[in-house]
Amino acid sequence: MKNVLVIGSTGQIGSELTLELRRQIPDGNIVAGYIKGAEPHGDLLTSGPCEIADVTNAEQLAQIVDKYEIDTIYNLAALLSAVAEAKPLLAWDIQMNGLINILEIARDKKCAVFTPSSIGAFGPNTPKENTPQDTIQRPKTMYGVTKVATELLSDYYFTKYGVDTRAVRFPGLISNVTLPGGGTTDYAVDIFYSAVKGEEFVCPIQAGTFMDMMYMPDAIKACIDLMNADPSKLVHRNAFNIASMSFDPEMLRNEILKFIPDFKMRYEFDSVRQAIADSWPDKMDDSCAREEWGWSPEYDMQSMTKDMIETLSQRFSK
Ligand code: SER
Repeated sequence: MKNVLVIGSTGQIGSELTLELRRQIPDGNIVAGYIKGAEPHGDLLTSGPCEIADVTNAEQLAQIVDKYEIDTIYNLAALLSAVAEAKPLLAWDIQMNGLINILEIARDKKCAVFTPSSIGAFGPNTPKENTPQDTIQRPKTMYGVTKVATELLSDYYFTKYGVDTRAVRFPGLISNVTLPGGGTTDYAVDIFYSAVKGEEFVCPIQAGTFMDMMYMPDAIKACIDLMNADPSKLVHRNAFNIASMSFDPEMLRNEILKFIPDFKMRYEFDSVRQAIADSWPDKMDDSCAREEWGWSPEYDMQSMTKDMIETLSQRFSK
C-alpha cells in the first residue's frame, strides 16, 4: 500500500483514516476523495492531495487512479442505516452503483479495495449472542441489503477476477473528531457531547438494547492492518466480524456518571432506529479476524469513555 484513494475522506471514518495513512506512508500519495458540499478543511486539506471523487462517476474515479498511480482504494461512501431507510434509492445508488464502479476500476487497474460492511449486514433471524462469522444474513433494512450485497460482490470480484478485496463488519463507531450522520448507533457518540456540555441527553434507543461498538482508533487500526495482512492467511475476505465492546444505553450512562456525576439522561425512543437496533446482533464473535490477521482491539467501554470525556472536555473548555 503506497498510493491510496480514500473515497468519503471527510466522513466519520475517512477524516481520521486519511490522516493516519499520511502519517504512516509519508512518501505515498494519500488522496482525500470528497464530494461537493463535504469539502476537506484544516489538516486534511493541507497535508496531502485532495480530489473530487464521486462514487457514482466512474470516469472521475478512473482519472484519479491514473493520476496518482493508486494501488489501494478505501471506499467509505455510504448512507448510514436510518438515512438509508428514508432514502432507499439514493442508498442503493451510492452503495451498489458506486461499488460496481470501483470494482471495475480495480479490476482494470489492479487496485486493492476495502469497502466496509457492518453489524447492519445481519438481521432478526441471525443469532444475537456471539454472532458467528458465517451465519444467516437476512437484514430487513436497505442499509443491510446493500451491505450484504457489498460483501457478496466484493467476494465475487476476488474469486472471479482476483481483485484483492478485503473488509470488516464495523460495529457502531465512536469518535471525537467527525460526527456520524443518520446511523442507529449515533446515540453512543451524541451522548458524550451532551454529557460534556452539561446538557440533558435524550436517548433514542431503549434501555436493554445491546449493540457492538468500537472506538475509532481501533477501527482505523482494523482498516490498515487488514489491508497490510498476509493474503495467504485470509480464509475469509468480505467481511470479517470485529468486536471490542458491547453495551446498552444504561451501561454507558453509568460509566459516564463515574466522570460526570450530575449527567442527566432520559429516554424518548425513535421507532425507526429502535426497530433497526432490535434486528442487529448484541455481540459478534470476532475469532476469525483474530486468527487470520491478528485483530486485537485496544479499547474497551471503560477506556473509551475515559478518553472521550477527557478529549471533549479539553476541547469545550477552550
Ligand atoms: N453505525 C452504522 C449505523 O448505525 C452501522 O454500521 O447505521
